[in-house]
Amino acid sequence: MKKYLVIGNPISHSLSPELHNHWIKQNGLDAKYEKKKLNNNELESLISDVKNGNINGVNVTVPFKNAVIPYLDKLSDEAKKTQAVNTIYLKDKKVIGHNTDIEGFENAIKKINFDFTNKKIFILGAGGVTPSIIYASMKMGSSEIIISNRTKEKAEKLKNIFDNITLINWGKVPNFDVIINTTSLGLNQQDKINLDFTNIGKNKLFYDVIYNPSETYFLNTGKKLGNKYENGKLMFVYQAFSAFKLWHSVEPTVNNETMKIFNQ
Ligand code: ATR
Repeated sequence: MKKYLVIGNPISHSLSPELHNHWIKQNGLDAKYEKKKLNNNELESLISDVKNGNINGVNVTVPFKNAVIPYLDKLSDEAKKTQAVNTIYLKDKKVIGHNTDIEGFENAIKKINFDFTNKKIFILGAGGVTPSIIYASMKMGSSEIIISNRTKEKAEKLKNIFDNITLINWGKVPNFDVIINTTSLGLNQQDKINLDFTNIGKNKLFYDVIYNPSETYFLNTGKKLGNKYENGKLMFVYQAFSAFKLWHSVEPTVNNETMKIFNQ
């Protein structure tokens, strides 16, 4: 039986096992997918387990997307460009790190029929998933990317990877067409993002990478102001879709049945 894992810390909230095991069953595969809480000093031995075939694939979440890189043999172009890995597999005896968050976000935006071409994108946060959102937004043809993070030094580090992004101080709200929350603010139902959206105009897209709770304070604010809004469910499903396809060479089905994993 093939063995797959999602690693992170914390990890108890992850719905990846539910989603992957649903698709594993649907496709009659001899595999199982589990979650594992890790510490930094356990990354090396985990990657050895991939190398020797004890584990067939790993998904990586907060806070290891960058920290895992030194232990890998090779990175895909996407992982290299974002310095972030969320999917690991063995190919020709080499442990490869790839990033399917980019495709996940692109597919989510496609599904809601929103066009990023020539749009101004305002991104909140500079955490583990932010480089993937920046890279995907650039790929989709956005005209400008503005980043704001509470800790400015962390946003400045992003400038080392993407030189044509603009940084602004936390608390400022520039002109934008799309605003994306990549911070962890909102994971707790009582979390508020204290930004002044009274002068932003109409018909913006408010996008939150968070999918649980399904409507954060941030999304609720966008909704109340009459804007389009979308949570991170589809991005989550499509990053898993790409990892599943890579590992099993099977394209899983995404339909209403799939989305039921969020109701558990
Ligand atoms: P990591 O920082 O380990 O990559 P993450 O969950 O991927 O973890 O990222 C957390 C993001 O949420 C960061 O951008 C963080 O801002 P800081 O860099 O200033 O820490 C942001 N964040 C978390 N709590 C916040 C808060 N109370 N106000 C504003 N931003 C917050």
